[in-house]
Amino acid sequence: MSKVATLEIDGKKYEFPITIGTENEVAIDIKSLRGDSGVITLDPGFKNTGSCESAITFLDGEKGILRYRGYSIEELAEKADFLEVVFLLIFGELPNKEELDKFKEDIKHQSEVNLDMKKVLRGFPPTAHPMGMLSSLTSALIAFNPKSVNVDSEEDMYKAIVKLLAKFPTLAAWTLRRKNDTSLENRDNNLGYVESFLKMMFQESGKEYKANKNVVAALDRLLILHADHEQNCSTSTVRIVGSSQAGLFASISAGVSALWGPLHGGANQAVIEMLEAIKADGGDTSKFIAKAKDKNDPFRLMGFGHRVYKNFDPRAKIIKKAADEVLAELGVEDPILDIAKGLEKAALEDEYFVERKLYPNVDFYSGIIYRAMGIPTEMFTVMFAVGRLPGWIAQWREMRLGKEPIGRPRQVYIGENLRSFKELDNR
Ligand code: CMC
Repeated sequence: MSKVATLEIDGKKYEFPITIGTENEVAIDIKSLRGDSGVITLDPGFKNTGSCESAITFLDGEKGILRYRGYSIEELAEKADFLEVVFLLIFGELPNKEELDKFKEDIKHQSEVNLDMKKVLRGFPPTAHPMGMLSSLTSALIAFNPKSVNVDSEEDMYKAIVKLLAKFPTLAAWTLRRKNDTSLENRDNNLGYVESFLKMMFQESGKEYKANKNVVAALDRLLILHADHEQNCSTSTVRIVGSSQAGLFASISAGVSALWGPLHGGANQAVIEMLEAIKADGGDTSKFIAKAKDKNDPFRLMGFGHRVYKNFDPRAKIIKKAADEVLAELGVEDPILDIAKGLEKAALEDEYFVERKLYPNVDFYSGIIYRAMGIPTEMFTVMFAVGRLPGWIAQWREMRLGKEPIGRPRQVYIGENLRSFKELDNR
């Protein structure tokens, strides 16, 4: 492969170095483009733009490969637990036993959320969407932790990271408690990270809560599958907000908001709503496939398609299998699982979806599992956020340690040329 790319503009040639990643991804490094030539690139949606070099997650959308720090998602989902993966993503290596024990203890010690945060939460009506509440609560944490992180101090950085990892599941669980208007509990430090999260969501007052071990394991695995996905919309948001040197909590709060949209993490809620609509309509998937193909209809098959995967999303494969297992374990028969499978089969045989390489993504089957666990639909994207938190933190840390410049894209202006101000009476 040549080491330079040549671009010709108006008869003048410019050369740019070619950068090759460890998995042979090739990029033209155009840092000097505008300075040398005066022109910029235009790439709406950043479909061809690499915003950074990153050592966290590798994704090959053509082959359906996903790896965190070099470990395949399949192997991590089978062998690791969520906090091991959290440590791996953020600090680069799997923890040894001592490191893992310390990490778990440190998280437990930071798990209590300031009582005044409850007042913030109670300011929301129970009808508020949990993602809106979660984003606001994450932001509100800043008020109770006003000291900004010194990113040049590993110790300071570690403390801030642990604090956020410790308190975020509590805030997430509280959004559900607010919806149900039930008491707000802190974490039970006798339980693991995932089990205590379930308990904070579901404990009924005066009753003992005992989570089903297989449900805990299934949720742990789901969180691993959501833990990072390189430069997606919410992660890019976290990096770009952080690049202005806004703090960790502010950057993550922005990430939660970005995740909420139905084209991103909000798709898991939208999938269940779509499957419910198909069921209510008599279960005829072909009608919905036709709607998704109709260019005059804004409807899209939710949970289908991906900016990067042009093959099976490896996470969807694991989640589909897990859906069968969890429903069997809990003795749940959910007719929408059959509708989902029927819809997937019909879409994968349809020329429109085949041509465009549209496959089920991570959101297609995850909601069915959450539902079987008794998690309400509006909470699905919150579950995604709890899973994605370590990825956001890892990417924020990498960006800050790498001293990346502030994110500030350019534009091509297509508005009015200079014109004279018109007095009010003349408009
Ligand atoms: N249903 C119907 N048509 C689709 C779909 C879909 N779900 N997804 C893409 N297409 C069509 C699209 O209309 C376009 O057709 P044409 O070339 O004829 O104009 C073609 O496929 C390419 O789509 P695109 O919108 O240019 O692709 P994109 O990379 O900009 O969008 C996406 C990716 C994920 C936003 C999109 O596939 C989508 O809207 N999917 C449904 C929402 C969803 O499931 N989102 C979750 C994504 S995975 C988890 C996450 O990121 O949080």
